[in-house]
Amino acid sequence: MAYDYFRSGADDERTLRENERAFRRSRLWPRMLVDVARCETGIELLGSRLAFPVLTAPMAYQKLAHPDGEVAMARAAAAAGTIAVVATLATTSLEEIAAATPAPKWFQLYAQRDRGVTRTLVERAAAAGYQAIMLTVDAPVLGRRLADVRNGFGLPPGLAMENLRVAGGEGLTLAQHVLSRHDASMEWRDLEWLRGLAPVPLVLKGVLRRDDAVRAIACGAAAILVSNHGGRQLDGTPASLDALPGVIEAVAGRVPVLMDGGVRSGGDVLKALALGATAVLVGRPLLWGLAVGGEEGALRVLALLRGDLERAMQLAGCATIGAVTRDLVELRA
Ligand SMILES: Cc1cc2nc3c(=O)[nH]c(=O)nc-3n(C[C@H](O)[C@H](O)[C@H](O)COP(=O)(O)O)c2cc1C
Repeated sequence: MAYDYFRSGADDERTLRENERAFRRSRLWPRMLVDVARCETGIELLGSRLAFPVLTAPMAYQKLAHPDGEVAMARAAAAAGTIAVVATLATTSLEEIAAATPAPKWFQLYAQRDRGVTRTLVERAAAAGYQAIMLTVDAPVLGRRLADVRNGFGLPPGLAMENLRVAGGEGLTLAQHVLSRHDASMEWRDLEWLRGLAPVPLVLKGVLRRDDAVRAIACGAAAILVSNHGGRQLDGTPASLDALPGVIEAVAGRVPVLMDGGVRSGGDVLKALALGATAVLVGRPLLWGLAVGGEEGALRVLALLRGDLERAMQLAGCATIGAVTRDLVELRA
């Protein structure tokens, strides 16, 4: 049941497959005879220094992968020198995760139907030192993940959505939980209210369209994450990589644009960066690392990605992230 929940996508899983395929279809055009004896992968993002441009994606229910769950993931991110994005639906409270490492972290927010609950979540995250709120905008309702439907997927007894104080064993499937709690009525104009709640930057997760990207900036978003939720929401959307250039063009450098979905290697990170992304987020591979080896396992995945990115940059003739330019990648339909 846990494996199905982690792996699966919505409906026919077309978007899930496309996310990885888009990376495989695209090509790198390396530049030769560049001094890459030293390679620097670090970046600045919303005031934080990252050792390399990969963040850990917010993913619910991490104790289903390993008993150390979100704390292990946050510690792995900190050890790798990057930012962990902690999910509203974590199986560890946001305060406990914050206390596990002093490294910068962001909080992923699902707007709740009860606005008081949303307000409290944002205030708690700010009080606990989270440096940005990442509002997920692609999940007014839950995508239909057939594996989860068949399994009647919900949290098992003993685990709880600690930020919302909803215990497993209450018999709620994830779909029922989302249906009863998520605010499906949220609109652009509500972002003003949200921005007023906490003095930290707001990042919008799940934007695919150019016009939405423009609106996001108009509403004060400090960054935009191009994402289709790892193919778990609306099936049939483009791969994140294919949606990226349109958003990059519309944003025109005004705010950092991030992307996630299907990033599996350093070459993939390089491709996303070449198209204009400031950084990427990685999801499932980190869950596999977490499941196999807890904190050490997740850290190993991040270390592999970093080493892989460094090698890919050197082979492509890029000594710094700034040297990763648009002409390095060719997108193919
Ligand atoms: C098991 C699982 C749980 C997830 N839970 C959340 C969540 O609670 N909130 C959210 O915004 N995104 C969630 N996501 C989406 C990820 O943040 C991210 O967009 C996606 O996994 C990236 O694609 P990748 O897995 O191909 O790297 C989840 C993804 C997975 C695989």
